[in-house]
Amino acid sequence: MVNKTLVAAAAITLSSLALTSCGDSDASSGTDNGGSGDGAITMGFAQVGAESGWRTANTKSIQDTAKAEGVDLKFTDAQGKQENQIQAIRSYIQQKVDVIAFSPVVETGFDAVLQEAKAANIPVILTDRAVDADPSLYKTFLGSDFVVEGEKAGQWLVDNAADADANGDGTINVVQLEGTTGAAPAIDRAEGFADKIAADDSIEVTASQTGDFTRDGGKQVMESFLQSDDSIDVVFAHNDDMGLGAIEAIEAAGLEPGKDVKIITIDAVKDGMTALSEGKINYIVECNPLLGPQLMDLAQKVLDGEEVPARVLTEESAFTPEQAAEVLADRQY
Ligand code: AHR
Repeated sequence: MVNKTLVAAAAITLSSLALTSCGDSDASSGTDNGGSGDGAITMGFAQVGAESGWRTANTKSIQDTAKAEGVDLKFTDAQGKQENQIQAIRSYIQQKVDVIAFSPVVETGFDAVLQEAKAANIPVILTDRAVDADPSLYKTFLGSDFVVEGEKAGQWLVDNAADADANGDGTINVVQLEGTTGAAPAIDRAEGFADKIAADDSIEVTASQTGDFTRDGGKQVMESFLQSDDSIDVVFAHNDDMGLGAIEAIEAAGLEPGKDVKIITIDAVKDGMTALSEGKINYIVECNPLLGPQLMDLAQKVLDGEEVPARVLTEESAFTPEQAAEVLADRQY
C-alpha cells in the first residue's frame, strides 16, 4: 500500500544549501569520516549501467540533483555486471564515503558486501531495485512497486481482450520480453502480469525470454518468436526499449505493430510515449526514473540520524495512445 504521506515527505524539495554530513560538519570531533572535507555529503552511487532510456534519465536525475544540492557524488556505471557493482561498493567503503546508494543489477548475492558496509558504519540506501537480503543491512528502499506495474499491464489486457484477439480464434497468445534475469523488475513485473491475466482463460503466455532491458535484445528475441510462431497476438515487454526493439522486428516481418500485434510496455520514456502516441504501442505503464531529489533527501535524513521509512514508493500512472499524445510535449524524460 502506498504511504502517500511518506512519499510526499520524501519528495519535499530541499533548500539550495549544500547537504551536509554530520561527521564532516562536526569540526570539534577532529575525526575524518572520509567525506569531501568541506561539510558536504559524499555519496558513492553504483548504477546498473546504461541499458535503457529509463536508466539514462535515472542517472541524469541523480547526477543533476547531487550537483544542485552540493553532494559530492562518486558515480560508477557497472555495465550490467553484478561483480562490477560489488567492486564499486567495496571501493566506496575503502574511500569512507558518508553514504552508499545503488540500484542492484540482480536481487541476490549482495549479502557479503552489505555486511561490509554495515561493519564500516556506512549507511546504504537502495534505489529503484530491491535486494533479497536482511533488511537491517540497508536503511531504506526508494523506488517503484514493480508487481503493481505488472498488474496494471495484465489488467489492461484483461479489459481489452476482445480487441487483442487479432485472428478472432478465441485465444490470445502473448509473448513476454523479460528484463534482466534475476533483476527485481523482471521477477515482479512477470508475477504481477501473470496474476491479473489468470482471470481470463483465453489469455496465455506462449513464450517468455529475456531481452535484458535493451532495444537490441528485444528486437532479437522478437525476431526469433516471430520465426517460430505466426499466431502472436500480444507482446508484453518489461520495458519500453525492448518494446521498441519488438516494433522493429514486427515491421520487418511485414506486420503492423499496435494492430496485427498489440504491444504493452513499462516505463513511459519519451521514445516509448512517441510510439504509443503513433499507435505502435497500445498501453504503457509508467515507471518513474526521477529519483534524485528523494534520494538526496533520504541521504540527508539518514546522516542526520532521523528515522526514515523502510520503503518509499514513487507515484506512477499509465497511458493510452490518446493520453500519451496529450502529455508528450511536456514529458521530462
Ligand atoms: O529497474 C528499472 C528498470 O530498469 C526499467 O524499467 C528499465 O528500463 C531499466 O533498465
